[in-house]
Amino acid sequence: MKTRIAVLISGSGTNLQSIIDRSESGDLPAQVVCVISDREKAFGLERARKHGIRAFLVNPKDFAKREEHEEAIIRLLDDNRVELVVLAGYMRLLTRHMLERYRNRIINIHPALLPSFPGTDGYGDAWRYGVKVSGCTVHFVDEGCDSGPIILQGVNPVEEDDTFESFRERGLKLEHKVLPEAIRLYCEGRLRIEGRKVRILEKE
Ligand code: GRF
Repeated sequence: MKTRIAVLISGSGTNLQSIIDRSESGDLPAQVVCVISDREKAFGLERARKHGIRAFLVNPKDFAKREEHEEAIIRLLDDNRVELVVLAGYMRLLTRHMLERYRNRIINIHPALLPSFPGTDGYGDAWRYGVKVSGCTVHFVDEGCDSGPIILQGVNPVEEDDTFESFRERGLKLEHKVLPEAIRLYCEGRLRIEGRKVRILEKE
């Protein structure tokens, strides 16, 4: 059985595309059943529609409170019988309201090696700091900012002749591998959260 996934986005959706491509090719035991954006102009919405995936804009401006915005999202998730929520470039923090409803069923990709450089500009922050090694992190989402238990990390060494663009481009390609891999582990039931650690079980 394929795991029913919702992908939440705010922008271009290249990570979304990598998930769609891998699930369509049969490479991932998952099906993207809906895509939800908080921004009208997010190109990811078009990507979803192109693949016949239900795509929704849930605009925070239409709601007085964050919890009400999340409630509208939760309704869509419930209606679509979503089992796993993937935040892929979704630029909002979640409140306890949504986390409690989908506890341990929400994962996020962050473009730096956490706990370094959390926040909205992982690439920029790592680059400006002058690190020699960066990468990306997929983690379960908790109340904090990019602070939940880590599932997988990928490493992106900074090369001498890198520009910010080449560094970021290589990092993004890495994200497109690491995020689907983490989703696979989740779908195969191979992730166990033990305190701060996520244990990866052997494949049966
Ligand atoms: C990615 O770098 C992701 O890690 C970050 O936002 C970016 C989204 O890119 N949180 P895309 O929309 O998947 O192309």
